[in-house]
Amino acid sequence: MSSALLIEDLAKRFTAGAKPAVDGVSFDVPPGEIVVLLGPSGCGKTTTLRCVAGLEHPTSGRISIGGRVVSEPERGVLVPPRERDIGMVFQSYAVWPHMTVRQNVAYPLKHRRAGGGNSKTDIIAKVNDTLELVGLHDYAERPVVSLSGGQMQRVALARSLVYRPQLILLDEPLSNLDAKLRVRLRDELRRILKQTGMTGLYVTHDQSEAVVLGDRIGVMRDGKLLQMAPPDEIYNRPADAFVANFTGASNVLRGRVLGRTGDKATIDLGAVGKIDAWTPQNLAAGENVRVALRAENARLGESGATNAFTCKVIERRYQGMQTVYDVDMGGQRLEVLELGTAARHTSDGEIALTLPADACWAYRDDGVAVE
Ligand SMILES: Nc1ncnc2c1ncn2[C@@H]1O[C@H](COP(=O)(O)OP(=O)(O)OP(=O)(O)O)[C@@H](O)[C@H]1O
Ligand SMILES: [Mg+2]
Repeated sequence: MSSALLIEDLAKRFTAGAKPAVDGVSFDVPPGEIVVLLGPSGCGKTTTLRCVAGLEHPTSGRISIGGRVVSEPERGVLVPPRERDIGMVFQSYAVWPHMTVRQNVAYPLKHRRAGGGNSKTDIIAKVNDTLELVGLHDYAERPVVSLSGGQMQRVALARSLVYRPQLILLDEPLSNLDAKLRVRLRDELRRILKQTGMTGLYVTHDQSEAVVLGDRIGVMRDGKLLQMAPPDEIYNRPADAFVANFTGASNVLRGRVLGRTGDKATIDLGAVGKIDAWTPQNLAAGENVRVALRAENARLGESGATNAFTCKVIERRYQGMQTVYDVDMGGQRLEVLELGTAARHTSDGEIALTLPADACWAYRDDGVAVE
């Protein structure tokens, strides 16, 4: 089956001569899959989404929706947004304030070309089904302005789902909601999208949203797509130091490659000795590397068979469900996280520290800032 969305070498430059906002991005989304674009502010997520929607004119590359080319500047192809059969949900609640919930959701069926040909009973049935899906059936007759932010965002979602577009585009739809609601709607959003079997492209800078919602996550930086993979792969096998750091591997050790066999490297960390690590790169002996490690993967108070070190606890911080230890390992500073708030480790003397080789990831130190 052809891709629901195929993006090939997409580039968008807003100003001639300036750095492109989107710089050679390629990926595809099979039908029914949700892809999340994740990355820091300004990395080109929204611009990519707007190019797919047709709201932005790409500089080069090709975009196909459901096997049909909708944008290819080199051949003069540019299908207007309303002929692309897509739904869109944005950060701001794009609802009609003077209408009820039901009227808002029915609006696209009455006014869209793609939704044309709906009889009155069709419209009622589709609107009811969709209100049920987003949990707003009890609010159908309410004026939309009397709803909470989370409810309004459900109206916006219902409105873009009601005509069952091929593809739904979501740009940080939860970022205006409070933390608790954001988590709830995030989980619900995945259920709703999966229940409809809809294909989704979702943009966020929040990694927890990306992990929950995405079948695959694409990490972007400076207009480029660095890695596109399922969440567990992004988390456990980051393709480079930036992806590792952006998705939470906050510890960075510096060292030099002693040797490498396949994806296993041995790194000289100087005074504290050597460490075994995983690497996705063709590292050569003598190269300077950064070793990334998640705080929760370090084992404080444990002496493993390999990668066993000693350290000193400098500071201990309680963070509700977890405790964070700042430790010093031969002059290199590390953060170690443990669940629970028991003061298991004290600050006097040397204690054991094991850094599991599988959770230590070595990357060439190309001098590029990772944060
Ligand atoms: N209309 C525009 N004119 C000129 N530059 C633009 C325009 N829209 C976006 N840019 C620039 O393109 C780059 C990418 O912006 P974009 O909005 O795609 O980032 P983003 O990843 O969505 O960021 P955020 O997380 O802050 O929403 C930025 O440097 C931005 O300033
Ligand atoms: Mg954006």
